[in-house]
Amino acid sequence: MTDHVLIFDTTLRDGEQSPGATMTHDEKLEIAEMLDEMGVDVIEAGFPIASEGDFKAVAEIARRSRNATICGLARANPTDIDRAWEAVRHAASPRIHTFIGTSPLHRAIPDLTQDEMADRIHETVTHARNLCDNVQWSPMDATRTEWDYLCRVIEIAIKAGATTINIPDTVGYTAPGESANLIRRLITEVPGGEEVIFATHCHNDLGMATANALAAVEGGARQIECTINGLGERAGNTALEEVVMALRTRGDIMPFHTGIDTTRIMALSRRVSTVSGFPVQFNKAIVGKNAFAHESGIHQDGMLKNRENFEIMRPEDIGLAASSLPLGKHSGRAAMRAKLDELGFELGDNEVKDIFARFKELADRKKEVYDDDLIALVRINEGAEDHLQLLDLGVSCGTGGPAEATLTMAVDGTGHTVTDTGDGPVDATFKAVRAIWPNAARLELYQVHAVTEGTDAQATVSVRLVEDGRIATGSSADTDTVVASARAYINALNRLIVRREKTAPGADVKEIRYTDAGE
Ligand code: KIV
Ligand code: ZN
Repeated sequence: MTDHVLIFDTTLRDGEQSPGATMTHDEKLEIAEMLDEMGVDVIEAGFPIASEGDFKAVAEIARRSRNATICGLARANPTDIDRAWEAVRHAASPRIHTFIGTSPLHRAIPDLTQDEMADRIHETVTHARNLCDNVQWSPMDATRTEWDYLCRVIEIAIKAGATTINIPDTVGYTAPGESANLIRRLITEVPGGEEVIFATHCHNDLGMATANALAAVEGGARQIECTINGLGERAGNTALEEVVMALRTRGDIMPFHTGIDTTRIMALSRRVSTVSGFPVQFNKAIVGKNAFAHESGIHQDGMLKNRENFEIMRPEDIGLAASSLPLGKHSGRAAMRAKLDELGFELGDNEVKDIFARFKELADRKKEVYDDDLIALVRINEGAEDHLQLLDLGVSCGTGGPAEATLTMAVDGTGHTVTDTGDGPVDATFKAVRAIWPNAARLELYQVHAVTEGTDAQATVSVRLVEDGRIATGSSADTDTVVASARAYINALNRLIVRREKTAPGADVKEIRYTDAGE
């Protein structure tokens, strides 16, 4: 058995299914390109039957692919499978991934008996294999499927031509010992098991997704399904950066390797966080802001004597600059551009020009501009093409009465000004936004934290809105918390508008979720 573990990234499919993590077409293309350059073996680019938008993104990613295999997801029916094939067929290396829920609970959704489901699996895998040489099949909720039935359906899928068998722990239920054992037994006990690649697909409901994926590899799995930052349904999926760095750091006890260029991890993590609107937890393994920070005196002293005292990985290994000197108001455009390059942003001249203007403005207000400040500036700049844009905001408030906000916002290029009052400056500002752009979206989350230290630090604000079951997350940063709040709110509204367009009656979308039975 080979010691090479394939990395299958599903940030654009399972990751994008996270409530509120919707990405635009261009963002998906950009993430796919970064994943390809990083050395990911398979990119699950989306669920082509779900919408015209999903289809177009997968098809474009397939056309542009260079190294990675491009995979499209399909439920167990010919319509889904044909659509997935249509989307991926122009890839240099296409794959169809078809699945059906095999556990007793999931079998009840389409109301199929064991025999009926077995027939369906035979027919659909055969259908996929007649279109494409590279077919992956998944028994969804495998870890809660009866052992005998699981073996039976996997054997059917292998005989019908599946080349990869993925074992999803759909609800994050398994534990490491069980995960390893399951894969080991399937490989040896299912006829044909040694001829195919077994994959592991873990969810993090009990916080064990990374441990379960690594255990599965010890059991014989040679493909890990994962996402950047662990994005994904509910508590997310196995985090790519965690499994890749674990295999690299502990090669002594896990003698497996991947083809990932780990120095690109940080740039991808930041990019995915920006486009999904999901901030990375400060103490997140590998990519969290504090993952390489040493604050206590005793740790700092130990680090100065020998970094290996407290570091098992080098920051450079994941693409974090070894030293991070802040920029200031005397720094020029070239220095700022060099820093942006180092942070992994590939920006055009016009974008750099806009960001430099904002950088100068910020440097006037703030003595030192740190990496995180710059990243926040890039995020703001990305809203330049949005329907709604904040043009100006003035707020007055005191202890005695309501706060008042005068806000100017452009709606598709036309400016509107409104003054409104509220219970505090943020409430007044949000009311003014709603006066210009009436909407019924419910504010589900409003969160503020400081990007860097000090009272002149930029505040990062995240906002989550819900409207008719659609969720959108927005974030922004500014040294002024109220301005950051307004921008984050407007950013979330812009994302909601995109989602509305995708799901409007008569639009292309069928609002399909992967837990549906199909048809
Ligand atoms: O979690 C899951 O079961 C999935 C399947 C579609 C593979 O994402
Ligand atoms: Zn999943």
